[in-house]
Amino acid sequence: MKILGIETSCDETAAAVVENGHTLLSNKVTSSIDLHKVYGGVVPEIAARSHIEYIIPVITGALEEANCNWSDIDAISVTYGAGLGGSLLVGVITARSLAISFNKPLIAINHARSHIYGNFITKTELKNYSLPKSTPSFPFIGLILSGGHSQIVLFKSHSDYKVLGKTQDDAIGEAFDKVAKILGLPYPGGPSISKLAQAGDPDKIDFPKPHMQKYDFSFSGLKTAVLRYAQKSIGESYTFPSKMLSERLTMRQKADIAASFEKTAIEYIVDKVKAALKEFKVSSLVVAGGVAANMHLRKELARLGIELFIPDIKLCTDNAAMVASLGYYLFKENKQKSEPYKLDIEPSLMM
Ligand code: KG4
Ligand code: ZN
Repeated sequence: MKILGIETSCDETAAAVVENGHTLLSNKVTSSIDLHKVYGGVVPEIAARSHIEYIIPVITGALEEANCNWSDIDAISVTYGAGLGGSLLVGVITARSLAISFNKPLIAINHARSHIYGNFITKTELKNYSLPKSTPSFPFIGLILSGGHSQIVLFKSHSDYKVLGKTQDDAIGEAFDKVAKILGLPYPGGPSISKLAQAGDPDKIDFPKPHMQKYDFSFSGLKTAVLRYAQKSIGESYTFPSKMLSERLTMRQKADIAASFEKTAIEYIVDKVKAALKEFKVSSLVVAGGVAANMHLRKELARLGIELFIPDIKLCTDNAAMVASLGYYLFKENKQKSEPYKLDIEPSLMM
């Protein structure tokens, strides 16, 4: 069974064809990230306009790469939330129109949940993918770390899962992006912080780890601690504008802040994951989302000594392969089938 996945929840316009949930036949992603860089974050209006421009070429490209025409496609799955309203709307309206025109079943996909399914892609003939030999087996702990989500989830089956904890304020990716802004690094902040951190001392600054209940997270306090430390280290008070900090900090100071921030944030996450693995006695950890691209995180999780799934970097950040894979499992279980004339977006959709 071949599913066409469509993903437009943020700034990536993506389409992919996946067979039987695990074989990647095509994976096309176009990002409007360069247009947002000058603003230091994603501008919703620009993202939506860019989706309109790219959605058809990206879908056509995915079908061509998969060597498919419409008669080969069994169903269309599309992200309907959570995400930016205008962005989601472009993907959903396009998927609805295609489902109606070509008479295909339409499956509505939850973006955060779909991130986990980057780990269910095990085969491809496309070049430069490093994939696991088998799909994760249930039960497992899912760790979703992206620009919009930080969640620890217990998965008992494809459709039976429980969110054990989540962020109460900023998502981890958002914290990386905000700290990068303080240090004058380009958006997105994750990769630039990691790069700079390599030149810094991770033990130089003792940033606080917020006390949250059990598996919940909080990252906004950590971001503020970075801001206060940066202001203090140039001899200014907490009223000093964050925009002007980066030009006053030395490269050494910036690198130490980046390394200490990265170490604290990742230690905080890994400690919570360790506790969840112990409490629920599962033998696998399945990691997903843009922040799963972080090398320091990958190294620390690998030391936990359990079966670890982390997708290829191309399947960590937003893509439609994960949307098509989850679409397959939902279709098989007869879940989330939508009325092509009715499916609406849900920008604040929860897991
Ligand atoms: O999953 P994703 O592509 O989009 C959302 O669903 O949010 O995640 C994007 C986030 C950004 O905040 C970005 O800074 C972060 O992933 N990110 C990283 C790294 N690469 C991307 N964070 C830490 N280290 C990285 N290497
Ligand atoms: Zn995402």
